[in-house]
Amino acid sequence: MRLDKYLSQLGIASRAACKDLIRRGAVTVNGSCHVKPELHVTEEDDIRVEGRPVVLEEFEYYVLNKPAGYLTAREDLHKKVVMELVPSSRRDLSPVGRLDEDTEGVLLITNDGMLNHRLLRPDNHVAKKYLAKVDTPLPADAKERLESPMDLKDFVTAGGSYEQVDAYSAYLTITEGKYHQVKRMFGALGCKVTELRRVSFGSLTCDDLDAGECRRLTEEELRALKGEAEK
Ligand code: URA
Repeated sequence: MRLDKYLSQLGIASRAACKDLIRRGAVTVNGSCHVKPELHVTEEDDIRVEGRPVVLEEFEYYVLNKPAGYLTAREDLHKKVVMELVPSSRRDLSPVGRLDEDTEGVLLITNDGMLNHRLLRPDNHVAKKYLAKVDTPLPADAKERLESPMDLKDFVTAGGSYEQVDAYSAYLTITEGKYHQVKRMFGALGCKVTELRRVSFGSLTCDDLDAGECRRLTEEELRALKGEAEK
């Protein structure tokens, strides 16, 4: 990875500020300060900023705006996987929860196993908000039905929170995360989901990211998520 990108991803400073640091000679790589922002570096290099070694954090947290066409997986022999879009070479990162291959939107990725576990615990009720587009007009009783417990054969939903956008699209917020849950809930109304986007996961959103873009969480986002995980 480029030196300026590497430093900014470690949270040293913004990308532009890291370029300045490098040009000012404040950054050394393996003892040399004659380095350029575009120099390719790896975790094996001894990188120092103003004499202090940059340390890899124990935990990394990313938010990805998952594009359709990617599996929520670490690797796959045939298909593209979300981990290809995460700008880190760490092998211990994994997605928190799962979005279907054709689903887009907010996906948290981390190596913080405890946070992952806490956020997904069924009794934690982290709200996940989806925007669904469907193939037939939504029925008049959609709100009532989706907000009431719904029997999906293998489990009964807790009831979501529904906001209709137009005849063919609506937001649905759920606190569980069963397999294909949103598609199945709309399916029970006789509507096939043609597009699905997760717009938030707890307080986490990714409105600033284009599809396929991934960035580190800000301190504030992380603090908020950790608070939600404690509930
Ligand atoms: N519900 C679904 O049906 N699919 C997803 O990807 C997420 C929630």
